[in-house]
Amino acid sequence: MSPVLRSVVTGVGAYLPEEVVSNAELAKVVDTSDEWIVDRTGIHERHRARPDQAASDLAVEAARKALAAAGRTPADLDLIIVATTTPDLTFPATAAIVQRKLGAPIGVAFDVQAVCSGFVYALSVADGFVARGLAKCALVIGAETMTRLMDWNDRGTCVLFGDGAGAVVVEPGEGRGDIADRGLLGFALRCDGTKQDLLYVDGGPSTTGTVGKLRMQGNQVFRHAVINISEAVEAAAKAAGVQLSQIDWFIPHQANQRILAGVAHRLGIAEERVISTVARHANTSAASIPLAWAEGVADGRIKPGQLLLLEAMGGGLTWGACVVRY
Ligand code: UT7
Repeated sequence: MSPVLRSVVTGVGAYLPEEVVSNAELAKVVDTSDEWIVDRTGIHERHRARPDQAASDLAVEAARKALAAAGRTPADLDLIIVATTTPDLTFPATAAIVQRKLGAPIGVAFDVQAVCSGFVYALSVADGFVARGLAKCALVIGAETMTRLMDWNDRGTCVLFGDGAGAVVVEPGEGRGDIADRGLLGFALRCDGTKQDLLYVDGGPSTTGTVGKLRMQGNQVFRHAVINISEAVEAAAKAAGVQLSQIDWFIPHQANQRILAGVAHRLGIAEERVISTVARHANTSAASIPLAWAEGVADGRIKPGQLLLLEAMGGGLTWGACVVRY
């Protein structure tokens, strides 16, 4: 049998800003309580970037760790994709800024904007580059400063989000074309633009000329989340040719513990196989999956060769899933 080209994740890294903001601290600025936030979301605290830290700064920290884990240096990179909804500037792409800050050579660099689903979307783009022989060493980063998009008078949203970044290095590898191969094995990506009003930012360069603030009909998004995610997960598993019972670790987007638990339950995935960081990170949008992935690797739960299931859902509405053998 002829070998099959696979996109293999060879290193994972993450970065969280130092400042930790507790629910009790938020209760001083908005009408909420630790009890409500924990009960409805599972969130206890979140990290907040310093005023002088941009998304690219968080991205660079995570990228350096991912490169070190892969045994690579910035000089090896020929593709940088940053999934972010909180770019440093309207342009250039945050990825171009990351390239400069890392001192990486001239190559391909651009951002992917699919909000909380951005990391899964960006992985699929990197997979395409690798599959076409267009990238030999790719960096896929999810980096967000979501606290900058908050309306601090809106208790329904400002307690839910945090800042952080996670990154993976993706390189070509040889496989046999079956599920024993290391690499990105299957994707399912979706967008339903008719649901835009459920979750969006009310500003932009070609409309208001402002950055805007995040607006969300949380309970409506919640309603769609469990159903949409489950369908995409099943489609990604089918594309990869795996059964969900074969998954070692489920790494969902970290929006709400109740959504994580609901999706896992619906898919028949045991609680012990779910990597959950939402209690300490809150919702870091495109950064949440690689942050959780890096944590699972760092604490020894996730090991090379294991089968991982990633899923996310966010503004757009976008959603998607990926099966990967790490
Ligand atoms: O990553 C992108 C995807 N985003 C998500 O997946 C978020 C999905 N949605 C959610 O996680 C949940 O819907 C929320 C956590 C946002 C809200 O939980 P909920 O159980 O759906 O609450 P709700 O929006 O239906 O609001 C229930 C009540 C309301 O009060 P009334 O109208 O019943 O008197 C809200 O005003 O809770 C109130 N409320 C709060 N109370 C204290 C909303 N936010 C807060 C708050 N503190 N922070």
